[in-house]
Amino acid sequence: MNKPIYILNGPNLNLLGQREPEIYGYKTLGDIENSCRDNVKKFGYDIVFKQSNIEGEIVDYIQEARTAGCAILINPAAYTHTSVAIYDALKAVDLPIIEIHLSQPATRESFRAQSYVAQAATGTISGFGADSYNLGLQAAVNLLSNTSKAKR
Ligand code: DQA
Repeated sequence: MNKPIYILNGPNLNLLGQREPEIYGYKTLGDIENSCRDNVKKFGYDIVFKQSNIEGEIVDYIQEARTAGCAILINPAAYTHTSVAIYDALKAVDLPIIEIHLSQPATRESFRAQSYVAQAATGTISGFGADSYNLGLQAAVNLLSNTSKAKR
């Protein structure tokens, strides 16, 4: 049985659907979780899906995923642009790490152009709304299958 793919969500993403829908869309985080759960089954993986408004809790989830998971998808939300603690936690992980954003931060306010997380991630998917999550899952599964082929 494969270890689960961890999908971690940062601050204010619990308000998806209500928060700035012209930027983030009308899907709730629950809708996104359900869609990821359905989608990942066909790949033979399970997911652990978490959200926190607290930076240290996200660090704890990353540390949990480090041993209990096979890959991490992370939408760190505003912590993308500020958190050395999340960057350090991700640097301690030897798994595929996919940074996810619903919007395209690089085209928004200048403070969103900087991502600490990008420097620790395998790759970034942004700008596709809720679809960014399923595209991220596809990327994680591809990376996992390439790794397991390389070990054969
Ligand atoms: C976000 C982009 C961040 O800049 C912002 O702080 C968020 C959401 C996104 O998914 O587009 O809260 O990560």
